[in-house]
Amino acid sequence: MAVITNIEDLRRIYERRTPRMFYDYAESGSWTEQTFRENISDFRHIRLRQRVAVDMSNRSTRSQMVGQDVAMPVALAPVGLTGMQSADGEIKAARAAEAFGVPFTLSTMSICSIEDVAEHTTKPFWFQVYTLKDDDFMRRLIDRARAAQCSALVVTVDLQVLGQRHKDLKNGLSAPPKLTARSIANMMTKIPWGLEMLGTKRRFFGNIVGHAKGVSDPASLSTWTAEAFDVSLDWKRIAQFKEWWGGKLIVKGIMEPEDARRAAEIGADAIIVSNHGGRQLDGAVSSIRMLPAIMDAVGDKVEVHLDSGIRSGQDVLKALALGAKGTYIGRAFTYGLGAMGQPGVTKALEIIHKELDVSMALCGETDIRNVGPHMLYVPQGFGDPTVQL
Ligand code: GLV
Repeated sequence: MAVITNIEDLRRIYERRTPRMFYDYAESGSWTEQTFRENISDFRHIRLRQRVAVDMSNRSTRSQMVGQDVAMPVALAPVGLTGMQSADGEIKAARAAEAFGVPFTLSTMSICSIEDVAEHTTKPFWFQVYTLKDDDFMRRLIDRARAAQCSALVVTVDLQVLGQRHKDLKNGLSAPPKLTARSIANMMTKIPWGLEMLGTKRRFFGNIVGHAKGVSDPASLSTWTAEAFDVSLDWKRIAQFKEWWGGKLIVKGIMEPEDARRAAEIGADAIIVSNHGGRQLDGAVSSIRMLPAIMDAVGDKVEVHLDSGIRSGQDVLKALALGAKGTYIGRAFTYGLGAMGQPGVTKALEIIHKELDVSMALCGETDIRNVGPHMLYVPQGFGDPTVQL
């Protein structure tokens, strides 16, 4: 096998090994995918400043996210259907994260259930919730996360309605996959994936099937979101989740300073500057361009994290240098998982860690907690999205 040296290598192997329906699910943005693309390309406008003749021994990427120790400030983002990318995918990813010393965030839309992941790991993970109409179900989900000793609740606030991803509709995305002539023909070319999948009983949305009432097709992400999600979500309700939960609360999906202030006001422990990986509002600004304005608005009031577009340790470094205290990778770990299972997630983390560590050193810093804007050249107007770069 060719030597794997970067995240793109993992993506290519993942693309070969995984049924098209699930590859497309991960590798899509909504509508024209402009935001999906700009999340990545906008990182390239920021340049790192090389420093020399600085003692680079004793380097450390260790820090904290919401008061919890992390080997590097890079968590695994909640990704729906992870257990379709590779059999028992959430368990594999959680184990890789645990061994590496970074947080794993389990999605509500996971295949392995909260209880199942808890049973197969030894340290607390984080749980992501959507805001659902059914209060009973919502409360039970939060109770289940507490019983499983999850150490933070990530509330997603940017998905009351689902941004359209064309390929998912065309592919008839579902978990487990519907057997059509096309999907069968494609799966026939993914034999190792299929054999592993046949060997597990985890093929349904584990947090939902058997737990939620009144969903006509629990195998379909779009049906479930349309029927079950709380379209009337407001800040009062988010504050209510905080009360129900009682632990560390992270609000995911903030793109405007005003919303960041609202999240800080309800007492969130952290916010995630995120446009959902370009999967919701197409035409939104990249999350890295929104980071400076959000730091200005709430940087001294609440911990600010960032996701969307991170494919390298250099991207992580740029986000941290602009003030983020934590970052998340979603697709980057999914590529590793689909390519090689649990060792692939470890590989993705190792790649990003090495890129982060070496780039930090080449910028003249040895401790991740000291990175800052002094390490960057940021084009004028970068933080003002009305300016064309
Ligand atoms: C769900 O969160 C998705 O982005 O598909």
